[in-house]
Amino acid sequence: MSTSTSQDGAANALVCAAAPASPSYYKNHVFFCLNQRSNGEACCAAQGAEAAFDRCKSQVKAAGLAGPGQVRVNKAGCLDRCAAGPVLVVYPEAVWYSYVDESDIDEIVESHLKNGQVVERLLTPAHLGR
Ligand code: FES
Repeated sequence: MSTSTSQDGAANALVCAAAPASPSYYKNHVFFCLNQRSNGEACCAAQGAEAAFDRCKSQVKAAGLAGPGQVRVNKAGCLDRCAAGPVLVVYPEAVWYSYVDESDIDEIVESHLKNGQVVERLLTPAHLGR
């Protein structure tokens, strides 16, 4: 932020220099819900989320997509969309997926993360939350 004074001195004006937009560190950031519940309520961990997370990490790495400027896959807690689980979300697009097995994860990696094409058949229904 910088300040300046008007030339006639009649008033001080505060000039805020807008911060330049920061480039995205990752092209895509993927979050997997790995939440585990012990009370019997639905949770992604009970539906294979950990294995899917591991699969995604390994497929992203194998495809040469991992790292700055590319793709980062992270663990997350409950994303509050348990009724649609197991779920993951891809940013910056904020595309939510509900997956079933490894082939779904492979398709998300190949289609969305590698080629930028959303996998329509795996989209989480918009009305499903917790
Ligand atoms: S337990 Fe996965 S979204 Fe809530």
